[in-house]
Amino acid sequence: LYQMLPRDRSLPPLVFHWIPWFGSAAQYGQDPVEFFKACREKYGNVFTFVLLGRRVTVALGPKGNDLVFGSKHTIVAAEEVYSPLTTPVFGKDVVYDCPNELLMEQKKFVKVSLTTDKFREYIGMIEDEVTQFMDNDPAFRIFQLNDINEWGAFSAYKTLAEITVLTAARTLQGKEVRSNMDKGFAELYHDLDHGLTPLHWMFSNLPLPSYRKRDIAQEKMSQFYQNILRSRRDSNGDYEDDVMASLMTQHYRDGRPVPDHEIAHMMIALLMAGQHTSSSSTSWVLLHLADRPDVTEQLYQEQVEHFGLPGGGFRDMTYEDLKKLPILEAVVRETLRIHAPIHSIMRYVRSDLPVPPTLGAPTADSCYVVPKGYTVLASPALSQMDPLIWQNAGVWDPARWYDQHGMAAMAKAKYDEDSKVDFGFGLVSKGTDSPYLPFGAGRHRCIGEQFALLQIGVIIATIVRKIELRLEGPFPKPDYSSMMVVPQEPCQVCYRRRKFD
Ligand code: HEM
Repeated sequence: LYQMLPRDRSLPPLVFHWIPWFGSAAQYGQDPVEFFKACREKYGNVFTFVLLGRRVTVALGPKGNDLVFGSKHTIVAAEEVYSPLTTPVFGKDVVYDCPNELLMEQKKFVKVSLTTDKFREYIGMIEDEVTQFMDNDPAFRIFQLNDINEWGAFSAYKTLAEITVLTAARTLQGKEVRSNMDKGFAELYHDLDHGLTPLHWMFSNLPLPSYRKRDIAQEKMSQFYQNILRSRRDSNGDYEDDVMASLMTQHYRDGRPVPDHEIAHMMIALLMAGQHTSSSSTSWVLLHLADRPDVTEQLYQEQVEHFGLPGGGFRDMTYEDLKKLPILEAVVRETLRIHAPIHSIMRYVRSDLPVPPTLGAPTADSCYVVPKGYTVLASPALSQMDPLIWQNAGVWDPARWYDQHGMAAMAKAKYDEDSKVDFGFGLVSKGTDSPYLPFGAGRHRCIGEQFALLQIGVIIATIVRKIELRLEGPFPKPDYSSMMVVPQEPCQVCYRRRKFD
């Protein structure tokens, strides 16, 4: 009845729901993108829905992205929304548990260690980790058999999750973390990871075993990193020049060095921020390649052309090689378009937020206002798959990223006249009003983008050099039940060894 009463006309339309407080949680939780599409049909690009007691105003399309990513931090803020989930996992005083100005400094500290020179070193390390994994893990038992024609199968998501954490440990996290992977670190990681669920986001603390395990794991992992820091300091500089080493030398603008517990918590944040995003993306890439052996073959041939050896086999891949593989880049970008791992980007509204009338308005001469205390939400996942913007939006078609004609055919007329977004060769603007933002935009933009593209690219390139892929059964659907979109199990891919690798 309350929903039928006349409302303040400046409030965005409210999505109808039957159960107070619970609101539209079931529809949103089951498939957020379909829920947004259905609401857009009914209410337009701006609407509010109730999510377990919160009022969440959704702003769709490139202009919605702009409102959420581009509004001033004094008006919309990430920390109020994300901190209940992330602080118990990352630890105190970093990311969303500190003033935003400090987060900006922390992001810069990490960025300075993600250099091209470092990336050059990482390529060999990632290839080596993937090769070792494929040689030893039971998922790739075919490698232990002599019959080259035999087909095996593995779960794309489970396998890629393991490869992702091993490659991130070897590169970003440093030697000590990688060598402790099999000695308890992996278990701590899993306990912490189980603290990153929608339940933990809604209720930061409950007397349940998963919460206790999360807190114990956080404490132990924080101590683990702090012990590394102490022994590095005692070693008089005898350690590698990695992300942690770089953080040890940084100072905040007020001259304060970064305390050990903050370095430890930043390392945990980097580990957790990159894990599901990258492993989910890599497994979607592999599933699409298994579904399209013709594209897998193109990827393979692209590598043969660039660094294949005359008698078969390959020389070591370099950073320059990686930059010259347009099909690989297109495959990754197209996968991130259709399977953005983060479907909802949220901010807490700190003071009333007027909605630009181009996004939607109650009347021609007024505008909606999102009131203080609401949450605003953008969904690049939807604008990246919007048939109003992209031609054959739901079709995985890597060629749209490297084929000039494909680009021109990208429903240009419908979109870029109005927004001036540059659909140049393989590039979509990174501005806050772009329809393609798998890594976000604005002050909270991802700092791991270049690393993630490298990690995903090298893992896929290495796998494709070693095996042929096939998909048996239907293409897996997205699973929205965790905080990130991952492929629903079963997501088996079939494989057999290539004749030459
Ligand atoms: C922020 C996506 C990999 C670290 C973000 C945001 C997105 C995103 C959408 C913006 C969130 C927001 O505005 O609320 C992705 C995707 C990845 C990926 C799709 C892989 C395919 C990584 C990796 C790292 C990382 C590998 C670490 C090395 C971060 C950090 C932030 C961030 C520190 C900043 C948070 C903030 O300023 O609020 N990422 N990410 N990400 N990401 Fe990533």
